[in-house]
Amino acid sequence: MAYETAVAAAANDLPAFIWDDALIRRYDLSGPRYTSYPTAVEFTSDYTVEDMVQAAARSKASGRPLSLYTHLPFCAHLCYYCACNKVITKKRDKAMPYVERVLKEAAIQSRLFGADRPVQQLHWGGGTPTFLPRDVMQHLMAGYGELFNLQTGDERDYSVEIDPREVDQDTLPTLWELGFNRISLGVQDVNPKVQKAVNRIQPREMTEAVLNEARRIGFRSINLDLIYGLPYQTPESFAETLEAVIEMSPDRLSVFSYAHLPDRFYPQTRILSDTLPTPQQKLTILHNTINRLLEAGYEYIGMDHFAKPDDSLAVAQREGRLHRNFQGYTTHSDCDLVSLGVSAIGQTDDAYFQNNHDLPAWEAAIDAGQLAITRGVGLSRDDRIRRWVIGQLICQFRLDRQQFADTWGEDFDRYFADELNRLRPMIKDELVSDEGQVLQVQPAGRLLIRAICQIFDLYRKEGASQRFSRII
Ligand SMILES: C[S@@+](CC[C@H](N)C(=O)[O-])C[C@H]1O[C@@H](n2cnc3c(N)ncnc32)[C@H](O)[C@@H]1O
Ligand code: SF4
Repeated sequence: MAYETAVAAAANDLPAFIWDDALIRRYDLSGPRYTSYPTAVEFTSDYTVEDMVQAAARSKASGRPLSLYTHLPFCAHLCYYCACNKVITKKRDKAMPYVERVLKEAAIQSRLFGADRPVQQLHWGGGTPTFLPRDVMQHLMAGYGELFNLQTGDERDYSVEIDPREVDQDTLPTLWELGFNRISLGVQDVNPKVQKAVNRIQPREMTEAVLNEARRIGFRSINLDLIYGLPYQTPESFAETLEAVIEMSPDRLSVFSYAHLPDRFYPQTRILSDTLPTPQQKLTILHNTINRLLEAGYEYIGMDHFAKPDDSLAVAQREGRLHRNFQGYTTHSDCDLVSLGVSAIGQTDDAYFQNNHDLPAWEAAIDAGQLAITRGVGLSRDDRIRRWVIGQLICQFRLDRQQFADTWGEDFDRYFADELNRLRPMIKDELVSDEGQVLQVQPAGRLLIRAICQIFDLYRKEGASQRFSRII
């Protein structure tokens, strides 16, 4: 039987959150996460390095600020669940040659995009960025300092993904000295049995020590990553994990649904299906998690993200300034994204482009003095309009027809007549309301935001492929 629970929304004017089992079952389709539009499956190898060079020239002419992403793929240990692009190795001496190549790539990109544009946002992701020895991190950032206009002001957003198992006493002070002011810690679960099953032994005290030290140094917006749906998790065990995490009091939390795709991610074959929670258990864990985090004072930002009300993400959402890119939700909307390293994805106002996924192939391109772009997509005006609409829905949970008209010079109802028709069942099911001027995502629709966004996705109309992970 369907049941409904309403939980008071945190102190903002967004609607309260409602859980409705029947609706969740009806709309739980495969769906993209919309960290880009068009999504990465639409990138093609027809997109050439020359296309990217032209996109970079247009970006340079625009003078917009920059976001600088670096993919650092190395990890010392394999977590069996992992779906990231990584290279498992114990050899730390691989780090410096990799970083030398990143700097070669950065020199080319700096010329193309412009060395003077302020870098408002900078992110090191992976893999495990803290796999890099201290001198290698210093070398990388010093190189960037020569090639780009790095910022030191408070409004900069310089973040790094940290595996607490790869942190020694120098790591956090070094990152702080290098200009980082935000960190994200990989945790996944604090339960020892779950940790053993995924080959990631990380005692709770270890995470706590890193978090406390980071806070003492001055890092803000500290985030923890959790995953639900891992082997041996139960609603009870995950509730305990959540209590431990709430006690640590991070500013932000990402709670990802485990995507078990052993055919695509070979290490996941080490995880046996019969140790995984059932779909019903997963739903219960998610439901309990959202309830508990709201009760503990976090706001539900959307998709998998929660933040304290005074965190910049929650503030940006309240003020209608939240955006989404490959790094998830962001407060820096107007940046073009320069991305360096194996598999990294760059973005301008009218293009996306991605480096080779394969480390030796990426290395060979850089050694030949070339860029390693292997695929991408140029955006039509229609793509940009739809990206804007999906961005409004997924970040602000509302869409204002007047704002649309002011931004695009188009009449929303005429432009999206077909989409509005297809939205009707969702309006009837009270996932969305249409209040004349504004489309407003309703409490029951917040969790199903991907399904709502798909209505406006030209590439996901009926019959589109099912290459995406389950929404929940
Ligand atoms: C690059 S990792 C984080 C940094 C660092 N390597 C670590 O593990 O601490 C990014 C995050 O992706 C998430 N992740 C990885 N594989 C996943 C999967 N199969 N399903 C859901 N989330 C996943 C994890 O929460 C992980 O912390
Ligand atoms: S979760 Fe992090 S540490 Fe584990 S394999 Fe993936 S990238 Fe490496």
